Amino acid sequence: MALQVVSMKEVRLALIGCGKAASRHRRLFREMPGVRVVAVSDLNPDKARDFAEDLRSAWYTDWREMLERHPEIEVVDIAVPSGLHARVALPVMREYRKHVLLEKPIALLLDEAREMVDTAEALGLKLVTVYQNRFNLPVKLVREALLSGLFGKPVLFSARFYWCRRQDYYDSAAWRGTWALDGGALAQQGAHHVDMLRWLGGEVESVYAEMATRLNRLEAEDLLVGTIRFKNGALGTIEATTCARPRDLGAELVLLGEKGSARLGGFAMNELTHLAFENGGPPGEEVEAHRRNPEDPLGFAHRECLRAALRYFSGEPPDPRLCLGREALASLELIQALYESAERGEPVRFPFTPEKSRLGKGV
Ligand SMILES: NC(=O)c1ccc[n+]([C@@H]2O[C@H](COP(=O)([O-])OP(=O)(O)OC[C@H]3O[C@@H](n4cnc5c(N)ncnc54)[C@H](O)[C@@H]3O)[C@@H](O)[C@H]2O)c1
Repeated sequence: MALQVVSMKEVRLALIGCGKAASRHRRLFREMPGVRVVAVSDLNPDKARDFAEDLRSAWYTDWREMLERHPEIEVVDIAVPSGLHARVALPVMREYRKHVLLEKPIALLLDEAREMVDTAEALGLKLVTVYQNRFNLPVKLVREALLSGLFGKPVLFSARFYWCRRQDYYDSAAWRGTWALDGGALAQQGAHHVDMLRWLGGEVESVYAEMATRLNRLEAEDLLVGTIRFKNGALGTIEATTCARPRDLGAELVLLGEKGSARLGGFAMNELTHLAFENGGPPGEEVEAHRRNPEDPLGFAHRECLRAALRYFSGEPPDPRLCLGREALASLELIQALYESAERGEPVRFPFTPEKSRLGKGV
């Protein structure tokens, strides 16, 4: 049988923000077929120039000038501080009519995120948020088992990460750990774990959380512990901290159902450490093939996520693991609810309006 080669249309992309997260995109885009980075921009000319030399692209310090000079750009990849996502993404969509690829979380304020999602839908633009852990191989295995009913009635969805971030991390950029632009362990590092809980556990009825700032000097928290009641009756927990010492301890995701259980570990929920069902389950070869992500210095999950995003931007239907606008909004809603509860000192029931949460306020 002849091998069918489907060539993907080349996506013409521009980057806004040439910092840490973008440097991973840069390395992946440099070696990925199907994408051409036309131009990059950063307020810091040294960063923009450095990216441009590597990607052989044009560079700018003003992203508006970049978009005006390069009408051929189709997709804008935004990796500026979280509290600025909406300020950049909204005009990129409204004024320049570009599709948007956005680093997580979608935004910090719910109203801003809603406006972004509504704008994308109204203008027929694609809006994808990078939640790469959805592309971990064991996550795929477990989610498929969940969707096929193998776990039976859901009981518990639990996520935790114990990572080490010291003061030098918080001091490395003025926006880190601030309520206006970042948030703490939950909104920054924990956005991935919250997204996983929401994606697997579904709609939320109520949450309760406590938070503290224990080992680092930052405006927001470096420790948050929360509980979640899902609409399907299951409970959930989240433990988010950057206070693990002397080094990272890893992250964990646990699913319990009436007919089965799963546990994922590793640094980023990228290793299957337990899977058992009362009856059946995926075949052994399939479990082995999904036990852990392949070794990949550039990050297997990030690569898969960006590839899937490019396929979507080039006209293919979205991979079900891509986090599209409404899901990214739901994931931010859960982050905001946990902060709102921690600030109020009481449970928060959905739907709710953040009143006391400081996340995203004060820009
Ligand atoms: N998916 C992940 O695992 C992951 C990992 C790290 C960070 N992130 C996300 O990526 C985003 C950026 O984080 P980071 O760690 O790369 O931050 P960073 O500080 O390293 O980079 C941000 C860059 O944006 C630039 N910038 C700010 N305002 C700009 C503007 N108006 N125009 C152009 N450039 C501008 C800054 O000069 C800086 O170079 C955050 O939203 C963060 O949550 C995601």
